[in-house]
Parts: sequence; C-alpha cells; structure tokens
Amino acid sequence: MSLSPVLTKRFGTQQPWKLDNYERLDGYAGLRKALAMAPADLVTLVKDSNLRGRGGAGFPTGMKWSFIPKDNPKPKYVVVNADEGEPGTCRDLPLMMNDPHSMIEGIIIACFAVGANRAFVYIRGEAIHAIRRVTAAVNEARVKGYLGTNILGSGFDCDIVVHGGAGAYICGEETALLDSLEGRRGQPRLKPPFPATNGLYDSPTVVNNVGTLASVPYIVLGGADWFKAMGPAGSPGPCIYSLSGRVANPGQYEAPMGTTLRELIELAGGMSRGKDVKFWTPGGSSTPLFTEAHLDTPLDFDEAVKAGSMNGTSAVMIFDEGDCVVRAVKKWSEFYRHESCGKCTPCREGTYWYVGIYDRLEAGRGTDEDLETLLDLSDNILGRSFCALGDGATSPVSSSIKFFKDEYIAHIENQGCPYAGNRALAG
Ligand code: NAI
Ligand code: SF4
Repeated sequence: MSLSPVLTKRFGTQQPWKLDNYERLDGYAGLRKALAMAPADLVTLVKDSNLRGRGGAGFPTGMKWSFIPKDNPKPKYVVVNADEGEPGTCRDLPLMMNDPHSMIEGIIIACFAVGANRAFVYIRGEAIHAIRRVTAAVNEARVKGYLGTNILGSGFDCDIVVHGGAGAYICGEETALLDSLEGRRGQPRLKPPFPATNGLYDSPTVVNNVGTLASVPYIVLGGADWFKAMGPAGSPGPCIYSLSGRVANPGQYEAPMGTTLRELIELAGGMSRGKDVKFWTPGGSSTPLFTEAHLDTPLDFDEAVKAGSMNGTSAVMIFDEGDCVVRAVKKWSEFYRHESCGKCTPCREGTYWYVGIYDRLEAGRGTDEDLETLLDLSDNILGRSFCALGDGATSPVSSSIKFFKDEYIAHIENQGCPYAGNRALAG
C-alpha cells in the first residue's frame, strides 16, 4: 500500500499552484521531454503504461488517444472533464486547487500527442475558486511560453480555454458536456459515434478527466514500467481516494490503485465512532454498495467489478452500524431525480417514483408492494436508459435491497425508520 506521493507530492508545499514553485519540483520537465518525442511514440508510451481513465469508467487512455483519426482534416480537440459531480467525489477539485499546472502540463502533452492545438477545461460551475485558480495558472503558463505559439521553440502551437459549467450533474457525461460547451442545453448524445471521431463541433476530440491528464507528465518522466510498478498490472498507477463518512479524518488519500477499504480506513485514522462498517460506496453513489464483507476487496477497475461493484470515481463513502441504509439511498435517489436531464422516460419517471417510495418508507407508510416496485423500477431503468445516469441511479437501490432487505422490511413493519432515534441523539 505504501507509495511516495505522486499526484499529491506538491500538496502542502509553499503555494504549489504558482508556476515558479511548480517548476522547482520538476514542473514542465515532462513537457520538454515530450516535445522531443514523436507524437506516435507518446501515444504508445501512454498505452504501455496501462493508464486508465480516472473519471470513473477506467477506459485505457492510450487507446482513447489512438482512436483520434490522423486523416481527418478537421481540427482536433482535447477536452478536460472537470465537472466532478458524483456524490462523495472530491479529488479533481483539490488537484486543480493545489497543483493546476500538473493538469495543464498533461493537457499540452495530450494535445501534442494527438495533433490538437486547442483544449478546453470544463469546470463544474459551483467551483468558482477552481475556475479562478486554473484560469490564473493558464495565464501564467502562457506568459512563460508553455502555451501559445511555438511552445519552447518546438514549432508546436497550443492554447487552453477555461470554461465554467452551470452546475448540472449531467454535464459530467462527456457528450452532454460537449453540447453544453457548444452553447446548447447539456443532454447526452447517442453513442456511437464516440467523441474520438465526432466530438466537439463534430471534430475528433479526446475527453479526459483531470486526474488522468495530471498523471501523464509523470509517465513521460518516469516511464511506463515505473508507472506499472504501482498497483495491479491491469489497472496500475497512483489514485486519489476521497474518503467521507464515518472515518476519523475524512479527506483525500493518495495510494496505489488496488488499495482496500481496510487499508484506507487505517490511513484515515480508523472509524470515527468506533462502530463497525455497515455499508460503503467504492466509487460514488452510482456504484453498487459494498458491505463489511468487502473490506479486503482491492479497489481497482477489475477487482471491484469481479466483487460485484465498480471502482468508479474512487469516492469512498463509509457508513457504520448506526446508519440507516434506506435513508442513505433515499438521499441519493433525491439527487438523481433532481439531476435527471429528462431526456428519456425510464430515468425521468423512474427516479421520481423511487423518491415517492422512499418518502413513504421513511414516513412509515411503506407496504410490501413498495419493495417489489423498487426492484421492478430498477429492472426497467437499468439498461433501458439513454446514459449512465439512469443506470447509476439503480445501483444503490438494488444493492441495498440485496444486502439489507431486512432493514427495508423493518421500515414497513415498524411503520418508520428504526434508526430515527439515533439521528435525534446525534443531532
Ligand atoms: P463509457 O464506458 O461509455 O466510456 C468511457 C470512455 O471511453 C468515454 O470517453 C468514451 O467516449 C470512450 N469509449 C468507450 N468506448 C469507445 C469506443 N468504442 N470508441 C471510442 N471511444 C470509446 O463510460 P461513460 O458513460 O463515459 O462514464 C461512466 C462513468 O462515469 C461511470 O463509471 C462513473 O463512475 C463515472 N462518473 C463520474 C463522475 C464524476 O464526477 N467524475 C460523475 C458520474 C459518473
Ligand atoms: Fe437524461 Fe437520465 Fe436519460 Fe441520461 S438516463 S439521458 S440523465 S433522462
């Protein structure tokens, strides 16, 4: 589990977001090295490193870059998905606040590798502080010649536009993000075609997450083998896990991919109330819940799936024996109902129905039929929705019923939440 910090190595140092300080700690050395390489070799390097997309889906980054067609005469773009909105997820914002230049350096290298001269960073609208921080860093990089024309005398031109979203979770879905960037209402597009061929302004576009791009300069400097030595071979590299809930010290913890919850809880100083883990999300609320039985499951893109969930955004929300799973799922369902873009019926109507049922269960008016209806709704949303938001909304519902059916039945038989007293005591 031990790892000298990579992505967070500048966190806590003197104003790490300033260009001078970034340069003092290897900043832009990866770019200098990359500009001396052939673009195709850079794509191969990233492929060889097995870097997988940190936005949640874990798609191989080098393969995604290799999909950009070379013979398409249209301009190519790199778009950074910094619309981090998955409940519990908080790692791109700390990364952009502490070390924006690592992402910017990764963007320029990605642009050079795929033949793009312009990149866009789409930052979640509520995060004004991050929009300001990244804008300032882009301006500093431009003044110093890392952006603009003839970067470092290489003949390569590249610039970055920082764009603030308007606070819609759906705009984290890559095609809704592209629509929003083009000035339209953010709603998902049909895939395929994928952005790699038909992305921004119908041009070939790489869409990568902040953490994915911030990893790239380190791979260029350290090499593919160094990167692969951290964590499991199929899913390697450093990962920032965001821990929240019943741990003594919630926050961001960098560890190799494949770290287990048991190890993460230790890093976070143990459980805050001394109680045992009851349920937890391995990668945000859109990933099926795990329980205490999964404390030793390696959290990477392959093992988490084998164990019945997903690594997702590595947002680990931890609940203990004093917490009500029905209430937690009700809160997440309210989120999905609010954020559903309304384009397709299963998600728009299904999330609305979910919330109605959870309201009844909590108010002590639930019936046996409600439990069946929740499962039936999940069957009708999963795989029938237009994008991953609908599928994600079913994850906490189905998995909580799978593991904690008795607790649902207790809500029905007791005519209310058996944990309501705990909440009153906890204030
Ligand atoms: P996906 O698996 O459909 O696609 C992943 C990436 O690979 C996309 O960029 C897609 O364009 C590309 N891709 C896949 N197949 C391709 C092909 N044949 N050709 C070219 N490119 C291809 O997953 P999706 O829907 O983009 O993302 C879902 C994930 O997003 C979930 O696993 C969830 O964890 C995560 N998520 C993250 C959030 C955050 O705040 N970071 C918020 C909500 C969800
Ligand atoms: Fe919109 Fe939900 Fe359908 Fe996605 S699944 S397109 S968010 S209504």
